[in-house]
Amino acid sequence: MFYQLSKITLICLLLAACQQQNSLPKEGEPVLFTEHIAPIVHANCSKCHNAAGAAPFQLITYEDLASKSKLLAYVTEKRIMPPWPADPEYTHFANETYLSDAQINLIARWVEGGCLPGDTANLVRPEILEKQWQTAEPDLIVRMPKPIQVKGNNTDLFLVVKIPFELPRDTFIRAIEFVPGNKRLVHHMNAHIIQFEPGKKKLLDTSIFWVNQDQTKSQTIHRELGLLNDDGSYAPMTPSVCNYLPGAQFSFYPNEIGSYKIGKKNAFYLNDMHFGPSPVNELDSSYFKIYFTDKAPTRPVSEFQIGTLGLAPVVPKLEVKPNEVKIFHITFPVVQDISILTLVPHMHLIGKKFWAYAIKPSGDTIRLIRINNWDFRWQYFYQPKTLIKIPRGSVIYVEGVYDNTASNPNNPFNPPRTIAERNGSMKTTDEMFQLIVTYVPYKKGDETISIK
Ligand code: HEC
Repeated sequence: MFYQLSKITLICLLLAACQQQNSLPKEGEPVLFTEHIAPIVHANCSKCHNAAGAAPFQLITYEDLASKSKLLAYVTEKRIMPPWPADPEYTHFANETYLSDAQINLIARWVEGGCLPGDTANLVRPEILEKQWQTAEPDLIVRMPKPIQVKGNNTDLFLVVKIPFELPRDTFIRAIEFVPGNKRLVHHMNAHIIQFEPGKKKLLDTSIFWVNQDQTKSQTIHRELGLLNDDGSYAPMTPSVCNYLPGAQFSFYPNEIGSYKIGKKNAFYLNDMHFGPSPVNELDSSYFKIYFTDKAPTRPVSEFQIGTLGLAPVVPKLEVKPNEVKIFHITFPVVQDISILTLVPHMHLIGKKFWAYAIKPSGDTIRLIRINNWDFRWQYFYQPKTLIKIPRGSVIYVEGVYDNTASNPNNPFNPPRTIAERNGSMKTTDEMFQLIVTYVPYKKGDETISIK
């Protein structure tokens, strides 16, 4: 007993000594939760795997990890977790999370070695860790007036939702965060704000949930939801005020970029809220946290979309025959100096690769993003570490590879059928190829503004 204790103490001392230079234990030395695994997990897993996060269970304490150790080794070895589809050898992002080969190897060794805890008394308490994954207190919370019902019929549910809200006066909005209620079911959500100018709308009626099961865009949706002004004209809309996807982390734009003013009478317009299938009836009470600012907006964010339904077409026409692997391109000339804030690649199920870059008038390349193994489930709003300047006269090139063979495990049809872009249908079994870019007009010094 004494011998064992002193041996462990000795190892701890040795470990503590080599910690200073190198956080990896040497070959043959034990891997400990406290020294080696906790830092990896707390930096790369817990921001989603905590009580308020997007993941279905918590991964913070020794018990959390030890009880799932086999699964932990598996999902990291196969690079299923943490989900990060962008190729870190191509470009880096402010919100990136991925493990190095050495970290993956360490996790495997920890599990093989019997999940040794180390001295867990020294760990930071979970309550304190939790704080770092929570966002600030909002100035206003806007809730759905009643929960959304998701029927237990094992099918996806697509809704268009209107949620009216009023403010006492004109207000500057800094950011809006979406908090999913039923984290297991809410898949994605895009929200815009419709503003009714003074005198243009007498009655702000109640919320509406409109089922859009075949995912086609209705031309009359604004009328059907009561989103038009009383005289039948369109009310101004601030687009994409808030977006959510599993794993998306909320953040503020830096330096007052992105704030905007809204008036007293408004409505959230969720043109696309998607719930995954459920075998039992469930309810969802998602809500919005709104953050105000005193400062008048100086640099409103703009957005452009290229490819399907966008400013530049997909070439050739997006259609993939059964058992075909096919490459498509989008080419888009940039007509003013811009600074890119986020990049959102979008494809559906048989998308395989996504690659975007810009060529400057000088001929130099600006790398944007490369995804070597597209995964429909993990679609991020990629935020570059610093704003990316694209000078006027540059051309953005996007290349997409689609695999409609039977050997593609994500193929929704067996045997494969022709899959195409159909009139902007957003049905997952049709295809899309898009790059959505949010940006501000370039200002000197933007290259040094970092996004946190
Ligand atoms: C961006 C958010 C996010 C991060 C970061 C993340 N996870 Fe997950 N994880 C999820 C979600 C959401 C699920 C639910 C399953 C799904 O949707 O695929 C999940 C599922 C899992 C599962 C269950 C898989 C299964 O097949 O049952 C394991 C194990 C797991 N994560 C481990 C980890 C580990 C270990 C890390 C860090 C190395 C990590 N996760 C990082 C969001 C995340």
